[in-house]
Amino acid sequence: MSNSQSMRVMYLLLTLTIMPGCQGDNLPLPNDFGTKVSETEIQRWNIDIHLDGEGLPDGQGHSKAGEVLFIKDCAMCHGLKLGGVRAMGAGSMLTGMRAINKLPNATSLFDYIRRAMPLTDPGTLTDEETYALIAYLLIETDVISQDELVLDRESLLKIKMPNKKNYLIDTSARFMLSEKHTLLVVNIDK
Ligand code: HEC
Repeated sequence: MSNSQSMRVMYLLLTLTIMPGCQGDNLPLPNDFGTKVSETEIQRWNIDIHLDGEGLPDGQGHSKAGEVLFIKDCAMCHGLKLGGVRAMGAGSMLTGMRAINKLPNATSLFDYIRRAMPLTDPGTLTDEETYALIAYLLIETDVISQDELVLDRESLLKIKMPNKKNYLIDTSARFMLSEKHTLLVVNIDK
């Protein structure tokens, strides 16, 4: 991309981000194409959790409840001992340094699980169920060496992921609008 092209892309991104009234109902529909997106529909998709915990909902979940849920909704694809299921491929392994242990932030687990799992029915887990599942998974993958764990917004944020030290902050990321959104991009896998 030439310099002037990348400036144009940057300008477009900034315009879309900061222009008031440039969202949802206020957008004109050119050529009667498409349908207007309602605020409720936007809210359904606007569920991202930031690395600093922004977006984490209220509620809490106990690892024991997470275990029951995992056996019912997850084990068929991830295995009762989290070692994965052959038919689901290597991605179904939740143990080892290439899965949960690899992540720099526990907040990403909340975002991912609530958004994408169970694979057959994504978007159906409640916030409490998601906290409970994460509590169970953190114990089972030895990130937390406890028998039981209750997770909520505050305690999730305090979880120290073992692989965090192997990530670097990419301060040169050009399209990131603030420090908070800066990606952790380098992962030195063991
Ligand atoms: C129908 C099969 C299926 C079910 C049911 C399912 N998963 Fe998954 N899950 C997968 C697959 C396949 C992947 C790997 C996706 C990929 O690699 O992109 C995955 C990935 C994941 C990951 C990311 C692992 C990583 O390496 O970072 C987590 C965490 C996870 N699942 C948790 C759950 C939980 C919790 C449940 C139950 C609520 C669940 N899954 C139910 C198939 C399933």
